[in-house]
Amino acid sequence: MERENFASKVGAILAAAGSAVGLGNVWRFPIETGQNGGAAFIIIYIICIIVLGLPIMISEFLIGRYTHSNTAGAYRILSDGSPWKWVGRLGVFTGWFILCYYSVVGGWTMHYTFLSADNVFSGVPAKEFGDIFDGFASNPWKPLFWLYLFIGIIHFVITKGVQSGIEKSAKLMMPTLFIITVVLTVCSVSLPGASKGLEFLLKPDWSKVDSGVILQAMGQAFFSLSLGMGCLCTYASYFDKKTPLGKTAVNVSLIDTFIAIMAGFIIFPSVFNIGMNPNEVGVGASLTFISLPNVFQHAFGDGSILAILFSTLFYFLLFVAALTSAISLHEVATAYVTEEFKLSRKKGAAIVTLTILVLGTLCSLSFGPLSDVKVFDRNFFSMFDDFSGMVLLPLGGMLISIFSGWVLDRQLYRNEISNGGDLRTPYFKLLIFSLRYIAPIAIGLVFLGQLGVFELIGMQ
Ligand code: PHE
Repeated sequence: MERENFASKVGAILAAAGSAVGLGNVWRFPIETGQNGGAAFIIIYIICIIVLGLPIMISEFLIGRYTHSNTAGAYRILSDGSPWKWVGRLGVFTGWFILCYYSVVGGWTMHYTFLSADNVFSGVPAKEFGDIFDGFASNPWKPLFWLYLFIGIIHFVITKGVQSGIEKSAKLMMPTLFIITVVLTVCSVSLPGASKGLEFLLKPDWSKVDSGVILQAMGQAFFSLSLGMGCLCTYASYFDKKTPLGKTAVNVSLIDTFIAIMAGFIIFPSVFNIGMNPNEVGVGASLTFISLPNVFQHAFGDGSILAILFSTLFYFLLFVAALTSAISLHEVATAYVTEEFKLSRKKGAAIVTLTILVLGTLCSLSFGPLSDVKVFDRNFFSMFDDFSGMVLLPLGGMLISIFSGWVLDRQLYRNEISNGGDLRTPYFKLLIFSLRYIAPIAIGLVFLGQLGVFELIGMQ
């Protein structure tokens, strides 16, 4: 079967950036930054990206592009029959797994876009936003409708193929996302009292930085750059031989970090404008679907056109960010099924979509009719979320760095990142050093931290 490539370098960067920019940029990064030392946290985050993120991203790119294969096939080709081939399979499994709960939230962002546009939030007392969200999420039908619509859109893009589906949609959606981000940022920073919000986000406070904060920054950098599984490897399998891997990785990281910081510029001026305590806005779903609809409504004038527009654009932005990430997750599984089982793209995508429909339904219903069903002491949604974030991603990241630092042939590595000697790679030795020593140890610590091992032995 003829394998497609991305048609342009810009398309390749935008697709990979689309994977990276997602819910994590908006519903986690800004609040983590504000609470953990502002600019001090941002500096640590950027160091994590340079020291760990870039080397692993470049390795994942290289593994994908060199083998021109889905992630499971890529590691199989490079592992020469050794058990390292399991790293690729783990990456495929992880992507599949994340997509199940990620799509549920993708559906919520669509629903909230429509609620905002319909001016449903006007005149709602602050304490009722929680009831609105809980009422929606626990409803047996409504979230499923949005989940299926969200999955339907992903399926449509994936079946169109690499160039006319993934690349074309990234070329449309990433500039849209960028423009909306800029518009929302400008509106938000012009609010009275905005400077207090910016101060909360940016004022460096090194006293807040401890080992826990550093681990948090590493974990966030990892999730945000879509590392540790099969996304970047799969996308890179569609890069052509001339794509500069190092430069592409730097561009993707820059775009991802820029959007994450701008998300803070969008959120905190409004929070301070209405005199809310930023430590009470919550994180994740409660921040996004309970605190922020209220915050935006009151910061821009309850029921005003500006409030409607701002809120609608904000949820649309989240929807676009979630969609481009979800597409990349679906592609990991689709490329795997299609290539490993020699099926047509249509059939491969349909199988993946069906599984996501079933497992996504379980995740969605775990806020309502299935809330009492527990797996490992968690409802389905939290089980998928926690297991992928706390176990699968750090484990995958650690194995990928060890594999690329210790197992992959050095000459092959150098040859690939320099595009056969065409590009200068003065950073090569540092990169290998990080992959061999720094990354596995650092990610190992994040792993132990997330599993609560430090608390258990009284170190935190
Ligand atoms: N990077 C995405 C985000 O920030 C999430 C994601 C993780 C997407 C892993 C793909 C793979 O939300």
